[in-house]
Amino acid sequence: MTAVDLGIPLVRRTTDTSARPDTTRLVDRFGRIATDLRVSLIDKCNLRCTYCMPAEGLPWLKRAELLDTEEMNRLIRIAVEELGVTTVRFTGGEPLLRQDLVDIIAATAALPSRPTTSLTTNGINLGGFAEPLVRAGLNRVNVSLDTLDRDVFKQLTRRDRLDDVLAGLAAAKEMRLEPVKVNAVLMRGINDHEAGDLLRFCIERGYQLRFIEQMPLDAQHEWDRGQMITAEEILERLGSEFALTPDVAERGSAPAERWLVDGGPATVGVIASVTRPFCAACDRTRLTADGQLRSCLFSTTETDLRGPMRAGAEDAELIRLWQETMWAKAAGHGMDSGEFAQPSRPMSAIGG
Ligand code: 5AD
Ligand code: SF4
Repeated sequence: MTAVDLGIPLVRRTTDTSARPDTTRLVDRFGRIATDLRVSLIDKCNLRCTYCMPAEGLPWLKRAELLDTEEMNRLIRIAVEELGVTTVRFTGGEPLLRQDLVDIIAATAALPSRPTTSLTTNGINLGGFAEPLVRAGLNRVNVSLDTLDRDVFKQLTRRDRLDDVLAGLAAAKEMRLEPVKVNAVLMRGINDHEAGDLLRFCIERGYQLRFIEQMPLDAQHEWDRGQMITAEEILERLGSEFALTPDVAERGSAPAERWLVDGGPATVGVIASVTRPFCAACDRTRLTADGQLRSCLFSTTETDLRGPMRAGAEDAELIRLWQETMWAKAAGHGMDSGEFAQPSRPMSAIGG
């Protein structure tokens, strides 16, 4: 296995901002406006999904490198109250490992502009947290679940925790963190025979299932385009068990293409990040646990907000840095082009 490089890019690309319109909003050069903030709260995880990280884990960020509660809350407030962000999604690593998660969600939900809040989690600790999360004002959850088979779960995540995830999902549904969305990544020869079972399971319980094409964001850099299960293949497999018809509801900036299952109302989503990129409609802006701004999951540059913040920067400076970073956002990730370079920061340190 290749050594894991968690190197964080230090260069900040300078883009001419003279043509940037005079707006507080997070506009870019391609007419997009970012309104969806993804916050990675911690890079650690209690699973070791093979498509994400090696068995031994990664060199985790140190405590002093992580933004503290106050710093997180400050940046989220700036995004929502000053920059027009309307949705805040908390991710990781595994966000439930962060001690102050409930406090950060409570502070976010209580902001005067009342953003929508959601949590992307592996579900393991969700059983115990669903109630305090709802009390804090959390609106929705996305839970990762790639298999219903205990042995496959153990092989894929390197932990024997399937029952905890299923209990977490049930708790989320009971607490009405709805729609409860389930994310599944199919891996060839490991869980790709389970697409139909996963869909039946989710439909029976009222969860919205979405399959995600595997992206080149693994820490080990082992992603192989040729091995990836494409959206087309997923749809073909599902098509042999269910009647799928395109869901005509407006897709907007939602990455998932949705299909009605057996005439509906149940649906299934497919997020074809690699084979049918949706960059042109992207409305995301991203903040990492150590206070770096990214305009894209696949950015190869970042803007440091932690440094300026700790050096005493006023809100106005952080606002300017955020606006400039988004103005410089690339048109697309170019994953299917020969020039594509995988970001050095893995998914677990960016947030899904
Ligand atoms: N490609 C696609 N999806 C991934 N996830 C993690 N790593 C990858 C990858 N390389 C998924 C997780 C989770 C969501 C945040 O992203 O399974 O559901
Ligand atoms: Fe953890 Fe998510 Fe990575 Fe799995 S994919 S190891 S649950 S961060």
